[in-house]
Amino acid sequence: MKRKIESLGRGSGKIIYSTNDCEDILSLSKAETLELFKSSGVVLFRGFGITPTYMESFSEKLNFRCTKNFSKESIDSFDFVNLVEEGMDAIPAHAEHASFSVIRPDVIWFGCKTPVQGGETLFWDGVQIWNEMSKNTKQLFIEKKVKMSIDNVPWNELNEWILGGETLEDCKQSLDNLADNFEGFSYHINEDSTILVQDITSAVVKTKNSNQDAFCNFVWVSHERGNEIFEDGSKLPEEVADELQKLYDKFAEEIPWQAGDLVMIDNSRFMHGRREFKDNRRLIYTLTSNLSLH
Ligand SMILES: [Fe+2]
Repeated sequence: MKRKIESLGRGSGKIIYSTNDCEDILSLSKAETLELFKSSGVVLFRGFGITPTYMESFSEKLNFRCTKNFSKESIDSFDFVNLVEEGMDAIPAHAEHASFSVIRPDVIWFGCKTPVQGGETLFWDGVQIWNEMSKNTKQLFIEKKVKMSIDNVPWNELNEWILGGETLEDCKQSLDNLADNFEGFSYHINEDSTILVQDITSAVVKTKNSNQDAFCNFVWVSHERGNEIFEDGSKLPEEVADELQKLYDKFAEEIPWQAGDLVMIDNSRFMHGRREFKDNRRLIYTLTSNLSLH
């Protein structure tokens, strides 16, 4: 039976359907799935009855190595699958861990157990946002690097999730290594031994699968938090913020969740976020992964 594949939204995204009610997602062809992912950047798998365990197994089947996420509560025995951001507020467009770009994952996955009215997961094609941006705004982001940071990260969590050491000294050594090897990366240990991690980087990145320029970053979340944006300490000029707001409004795409859906997003090209919701039964879980070296 021929498999049904449809467009997801107005861009390159795709929905791939199971051929029957009990098809195992692990039976999908690895080569064809990866090809579809590389060309579309967002793939929704529907009708496969995905659970957190399946999400992990499928990611591994495609040769992605799951990564741990220190910022979210985990729900599986390996600590790979997490609940999404707490609360019911809208979350602005961002690429996952783009404020800590040395650990930016290649792929972010979302699985849906319980969809509710509202609370749609949103996504934006960073290539499209960049292409539609005015010449002046593009020039600004080409000329000025952005300064993204996350603060108050407990050092033991950094060790446990990312760095692999046991003591604060191990943590410091690993961070020194990162600072030596990644231009723009720096850190500061706060008085209470939590850590500020800072990254000075370009807001425009090359996509991993198509080598195109993409506006795929953490800028909009930082702006909404009232933070400084650029390396010189300046914030987004008002006219630039207005332009970005219009672009994000115009090009937002929605994932119309059904229970058992799985979505795979290229984190080097697409940003994600969500709409606000009122129903606390919503249950979406997430996983990040990198292309495996094996
Ligand atoms: Fe996120």
